[in-house]
Amino acid sequence: MSKDQIDIAKLPKHIAVIMDGNGRWAKAQGMMRVFGHSSGVKSVREVSEGCAELGVEYLTLYAFSTENWNRPQVEVNALMTLLVKTIKKETATLMKNDIKLDAIGDRSMLPKECLEELNEAIETTRNNSRMTLILALSYSSKWDIVNATRKIAQMAKEGDIEPEEIGEELINKTLTTHKYPHPELMIRTSGELRISNFLLWELAYSELYFTDVLWPDFRKKDLYEAILEYQNRERRFGKTSEQISELKSK
Ligand code: IPE
Ligand code: IPE
Ligand code: MG
Repeated sequence: MSKDQIDIAKLPKHIAVIMDGNGRWAKAQGMMRVFGHSSGVKSVREVSEGCAELGVEYLTLYAFSTENWNRPQVEVNALMTLLVKTIKKETATLMKNDIKLDAIGDRSMLPKECLEELNEAIETTRNNSRMTLILALSYSSKWDIVNATRKIAQMAKEGDIEPEEIGEELINKTLTTHKYPHPELMIRTSGELRISNFLLWELAYSELYFTDVLWPDFRKKDLYEAILEYQNRERRFGKTSEQISELKSK
């Protein structure tokens, strides 16, 4: 699988990834789960670099879900420590590669040190323009949808909007993902065939790609494979295949 097989003209603008399988990867080698998480950092680097090199504009990585707070405290602590360390260490690489960092999720849940490091990296990289790397941290799509619904209800209550004005556009605008186009491609590693509360609204018409590769083993070639498969799919958006071919030949 090589990069040359990818049609740059048909690249997804936004790729979203559920980075899964760190624990199983570590366990398979008789190691602690946390070792799997720290080993997954290399894959984050590979995928970010791979996407930036190709010209993908946005990459969202699901790093920690709202539900992940329910894991054993030692694992949660280790993940937060790893996060602080990684953000600190990788800011230079983000600058070098002209990558802007952003985050979606409930930041109020994050430990103070983690939040400070994150905010600092976001601030430092804010003028970078080659690609935006969005970390979904303490994120869940239901959390986002509930918050958006509350905000919209408040606007209606205050008379700023009429219920008739509530449509897809307003909902899009109110979600924390509003700055970015919806992902055309969603990748999940580790063989699990589910969405796990990730971008439920935004993935409505995304192509879903599942691979058995565990996250710490995920490399650029695996990314290329996913993009190639995406490029071979027919995105119909409810239309018929004939309509799509007709549109293409125009
Ligand atoms: C993904 O790997 C990382 C996080 C959810 C933080 P897991 O930790 O879920 O690994 P498995 O699925 O147990 O193997
Ligand atoms: C989804 O993985 C969340 C992240 C990768 C951050 P999980 O491992 O938490 O998902 P489930 O529990 O298997 O659905
Ligand atoms: Mg998992």
